[in-house]
Amino acid sequence: MRVVVTGVAGFIGSHLATRLLKEGHEVIGLDNLSAGLLEQVQPGAEFHEVDIRSREIYPLFHGADAVFHLAAKNCLADCLQDPVETAEINVVGTANVLEAAHRAGASKVVYADTSAEYEGILDFPSRVDRVAPLSVYGRSKRAGAMFCEAYQAFHGLRLTVLRYFNVYGPAQDWRRAIPPLMSAFAMRLLRGERPVIYGTGEKRRDFVYIDDVTTINVLALVDSRSDGRVLNVGSGTNYSVNEVFAAVEAQLGTGLTAIYQNDLPGEAGVTLANIEGARALGWEPRVALTEGVARSIAYIREAVIGEGRGVGRR
Ligand SMILES: NC(=O)c1ccc[n+]([C@@H]2O[C@H](COP(=O)([O-])OP(=O)(O)OC[C@H]3O[C@@H](n4cnc5c(N)ncnc54)[C@H](O)[C@@H]3O)[C@@H](O)[C@H]2O)c1
Repeated sequence: MRVVVTGVAGFIGSHLATRLLKEGHEVIGLDNLSAGLLEQVQPGAEFHEVDIRSREIYPLFHGADAVFHLAAKNCLADCLQDPVETAEINVVGTANVLEAAHRAGASKVVYADTSAEYEGILDFPSRVDRVAPLSVYGRSKRAGAMFCEAYQAFHGLRLTVLRYFNVYGPAQDWRRAIPPLMSAFAMRLLRGERPVIYGTGEKRRDFVYIDDVTTINVLALVDSRSDGRVLNVGSGTNYSVNEVFAAVEAQLGTGLTAIYQNDLPGEAGVTLANIEGARALGWEPRVALTEGVARSIAYIREAVIGEGRGVGRR
């Protein structure tokens, strides 16, 4: 199939493009490189440096069968700091992508949603039928999802919403001021520095490895039972930040301990996915945390810490 991937230079988008190319699909990748990196885009993909808010994207969707919409402003703190740009990208940008898909006759859209949809619901594990986003980020992703629902209702679009929990793995954006957990811990320990934990470290997160995430995206593309469905994409198990730290340190054996600092505002206390929906379609999270941590450490060791090496991905 000919598929468009927005956010193709980012963490999930670049892995997904690699997987889709391997499976024999044709990939049209869009990204404005605001957070993603050009060197992360697979050479086999047709790449366009473009903003999803621009009408210039319409002709790029020509002949597309399906669209994976991943481009977003997605750092909680950045979204809080700039709600207007967040809405422009995550809401108006999403509407523009849907319109481009519709005009091109692409019948399938897979929307990258978030567990932030559950921020206001303290019933665990989270079920797909109740949402209550609280943050600017969470609410903007909800609004984007609602536009997807409108295109499904009025234009017969086949929509699959994949609600991601904490996706992790090689090539996560470790350049952020506060990088994602695994990368942050591995980077500091490998440099002989003590990692920082915000709060007590007792917040619990449902982690899902990137390869399991690309697998469910491919399933959403090829299995029509996913049409019209919202699927949680987590592992159905959660770990505290302290446990994740222990898992990374156990593999590196530096003997260093964490430094505890004030909690970050707006971070959920617990995330835990009910993954019955995805399981019913035959999907299973296959990569266990220990294995995922080992692969993440190997990436950080090579790409980030390795002397004289670039930041290339795989
Ligand atoms: N990584 C996770 O744990 C996670 C969890 C829940 C939801 N998600 C969702 O998955 C999607 C991908 O997340 P990710 O972790 O790969 O993030 P990422 O930041 O690595 O990738 C997002 C990509 O979108 C691009 N982008 C941003 N604004 C753009 C614009 N206006 N026009 C074109 N491109 C633009 C960025 O340059 C970047 O390459 C996002 O929609 C995010 O909300 C991710």
